[in-house]
Amino acid sequence: MANKVKTVFFCSNCGNESPKWLGRCPACGEWNTMVEAPVEAKKPAGPSTKLRSGDRKPRKLKDIDYSSEARISLGSKELDRLLGGGLVPGSLILLGGEPGIGKSTLSLQIPLGCPSLRTLYVTGEESEKQVKMRAERLEQTPGSSGECLIYCETRIEDVLQQAEALQPDLVIVDSVQTMYTDSADSTPGSVSQIKEVAAALLRYAKESGVPVILIGHISKDGYIAGPKILEHIVDVVLQFEGENRGSYRILRSIKNRFGSTSELAVFEMTGKGLREVENPSEMLIPMHGEGLSGTAVAAMLDGTRPLLFEVQALVSSAAYGTAQRSATGFDARRLNMLLAVLEKRAGFHLSAKDVFLNMAGGLKVSDPACDLAVIAAVLSSNFDYALPSDCCFAGEVGLSGEIRPVAQTDRRIGEAARLGFKRIFVSSYSPLDARPPAGIRVVKVSDVPELVRALFK
Ligand code: TYD
Ligand code: MG
Repeated sequence: MANKVKTVFFCSNCGNESPKWLGRCPACGEWNTMVEAPVEAKKPAGPSTKLRSGDRKPRKLKDIDYSSEARISLGSKELDRLLGGGLVPGSLILLGGEPGIGKSTLSLQIPLGCPSLRTLYVTGEESEKQVKMRAERLEQTPGSSGECLIYCETRIEDVLQQAEALQPDLVIVDSVQTMYTDSADSTPGSVSQIKEVAAALLRYAKESGVPVILIGHISKDGYIAGPKILEHIVDVVLQFEGENRGSYRILRSIKNRFGSTSELAVFEMTGKGLREVENPSEMLIPMHGEGLSGTAVAAMLDGTRPLLFEVQALVSSAAYGTAQRSATGFDARRLNMLLAVLEKRAGFHLSAKDVFLNMAGGLKVSDPACDLAVIAAVLSSNFDYALPSDCCFAGEVGLSGEIRPVAQTDRRIGEAARLGFKRIFVSSYSPLDARPPAGIRVVKVSDVPELVRALFK
């Protein structure tokens, strides 16, 4: 009788394992995500995957010297800031994004940007010639690719062997979905292969102290590599976002064991690769003149940096029985809450109106300070009355219609003044420690009716 291959089922969303097929994953609650994979027979670990015993012993916390762990600069100010001050030796970084967004471009720009860094660039997707062609487009100064090694390989054991022989300063693997390992039987890109490949690279990074950047494609629903499980394994998750049609790309840190996760960096895709946008506010605030209703500028804080951007709203009579509410880049439930506050606390009848909300530049915001700008944009569209283009907003709106203070109001005011705004609306409960910079007037409002009076008298 033929030897029957034993299989198990994996959730392609969270990596949960189950002996039988289930319609709904009990771990993450997603429907229809279970995929079948053969059971991996445990093979003896190869030389590169074995832990070198004897090297390590438990040490006293106070004896561990961490100042020697100098961070490695990637030659890009924005990227270094996003990582919390450069790459940490021995870390594994996952760079995720939809196909075509610029992951390969960004990772090839790293060795080109700092030629002294000996980089091993492993590509399983493109040929050497394709990489060379891309590098020629990106190279600012000819010959800057000095120490960069290109290696076309998809078998992870070979990659690790080369890495151990060459001892580079940085390893880049493009992409996790194309790599495979002999220790798992399934096809490249399957859940168990991705898990094994990432685990092998993690082991290599921790043992050798060489940082590894791993590129992963994101499935349509925004999950990195389908199995979100990679996010637990790696030290840092950077995610590329942005409209494919537009040229701006937002790189966000979703997880960072060595820095803040609320940072983001903005890049522009040009004919010569990705360019850092050092001052994203300038790209996110309106490019039109005065006189458009339904727009308001919010003073948001992303991580450590204030960021001003435009909130757009469209309020129109509902064509069908039930009103539509749609929000792009903003939490739809939060929008519903703000509309309910407007209805109940300020007497606006929006229940029979369609409300569409959009954040400029494809930004996704979660800072509650954007509430005030959302309300201002909705009201501006509702009255079809344009707000003055020189005012901006920073405040959280509470359920009783009160306007609550937000963190670091002074820095938001400073950034608004720097960009030439004349007025900023903040909560009247904001503790301001410094006098506002010259040229900007700080308007304090305590609740929604007061905001309405101040804006639309
Ligand atoms: P790529 O880095 O290949 O995307 P990914 O690895 O995430 O799939 O980026 C491909 C896109 O970038 C492609 O649509 C062409 C564009 N591009 C430029 O506009 N300028 C450039 O200099 C380069 C190299 C690519
Ligand atoms: Mg690519």
